[in-house]
Formats: sequence, C-alpha cells, structure tokens
Amino acid sequence: MTLKEEISKEKLPRHVAIIMDGNGRWAKQKGKDRIFGHKSGVAAVREVTESAAEIGIKYLTLYAFSTENWNRPMKEVNALMSLLVYSINAETKTLMKNNVRLLTIGDTSRLPGKVYKKLEETISRTSENKGLSLVLALSYSSRWEILNAVKKLVSEINSGNVDLNQVNENNFANYLSTKEIPDPELLIRTSGEQRISNFLLWQIAYSELYFTDKLWPDFRKEDLYAAVLDFQTRERRFGQISEQVNF
Ligand code: FPP
Repeated sequence: MTLKEEISKEKLPRHVAIIMDGNGRWAKQKGKDRIFGHKSGVAAVREVTESAAEIGIKYLTLYAFSTENWNRPMKEVNALMSLLVYSINAETKTLMKNNVRLLTIGDTSRLPGKVYKKLEETISRTSENKGLSLVLALSYSSRWEILNAVKKLVSEINSGNVDLNQVNENNFANYLSTKEIPDPELLIRTSGEQRISNFLLWQIAYSELYFTDKLWPDFRKEDLYAAVLDFQTRERRFGQISEQVNF
C-alpha cells in the first residue's frame, strides 16, 4: 500500500498549516544564493497544494512571508515579492482547474502595490471555488494579528457596539485575520527547527505539531502524506482523559 492509500479519510485534518523553512540553507548546501532556494521552494508549494487537494484537506495555510521577514536584505525581500507575483500568474489556471480558492492572512496593506493588486485579483477570481482553500500568510505575525484584533474590539466596545461582558473565545476569533477559517489540526515545520516563530499562536492552541528535517525545497507529496499519517496516530484529548475521547 502506498502512503497515500494508508491515509484514513475519516481522520483527515480539515486544516493543515505549514512553516516552510530551510530555503536559504538548501541553497547554501548547493553553493547557490538564497534567492535560488526560494525559487526552488515554489515547486514544493505546488506539490503540497496538489497533494492536499488530492487527499481532501479543506484548508492549507502556508507561512510565506512573516512581519519579521521585512527586515531581510532588500534584495531578498524584492525577490520574494517578484516570485510571489510570478508564481500566482503562472499558477492561476491550475488553481481554477483544481477548484482551489486563494485567501490571504496578514497585513497585506504593507505589500507593494503590484503584489497586493495581483493577490486581490486572484482572490476575487477564485472566490467561488469550492475545493481546497489555499491561505497564504503574508506580512503575517501572530502578535500583530492579536494586537490588531484587540484594538478593533476595544474600539467597538468604546463605541457601544459590543458589550464587554459578551466577549468570549468564539466571538473574539472573529476579529482575527483567520475569521471563518477553522483552527489547524496539524502544524508542520520543515528544516529541523522546532519553533513556532509567531505563527497562528491563538489558532494552534490544540494543534498537533510535526517537525521534519527536510528542507522546504525538498518537501514532496510523500512528506505531506507521512505527516498526515503521523497525525492520524495521535490521540487528541483537548484536556480530557483518554477514556473520555475513546468512547
Ligand atoms: C523560509 O526559508 C522561507 C521563506 C521565508 C519564504 C517562503 C517562500 C517561498 C517558498 C516561495 C514563494 C511562495 C509562494 C507561496 C509562491 P528561509 O529563507 O528562512 O531559509 P533558512 O532558514 O534556511 O535561511
């Protein structure tokens, strides 16, 4: 049986989030510059999107550019921005063909106009697609997101639209940029690092974490299947005891 065939449809994570890490190290190992690593990372983005759609995952969130990434050398930031526009242009047809809906989370107003426009155009073009939702985290950081949510909420409370006593975990989540996106059940990080790096801190409260030594440009369909299979061996207790969840 192939890894893909071993996956149980009944225990599929609805949402998988990935911290794509290791492009720079991958390039260095090959004596190339970091930008070559990012370009090679696009093939892994394509593979993982295709395989997630094939096995029936509904949401795939990719950490493509963090708030902190703005501090990288200008040449690298510009290259990543151009790569984003290039990749979206090259892949829009495939997204449409495979019924994939594109979404973003993060402070996208900080992105260069050309990138922002291309994203908005593709989000709108794919908005009726009912298959996989591909969520790109761009200019995203969790602390920015939570702080932003608190500011919006306080302003609503101050203007009398929201009653402080009615605020709870569910309605607070509506102020986050992941509003209407379910929390990820599985978070994957590549490249051997075992950190969360300011990614989806609110949303991963009960996510299963999966770390692999593979550098992102080497990540292939089989790696996603292996992570999903590993997820399916975990017992998710949500603070309860084993007997309560295995009834
Ligand atoms: C992390 O590797 C990777 C990034 C910060 C960027 C990810 C971008 C892509 C894969 C390409 C474009 C994306 C899309 C969605 C088309 P790193 O540079 O931190 O690697 P290092 O830790 O080895 O230096």
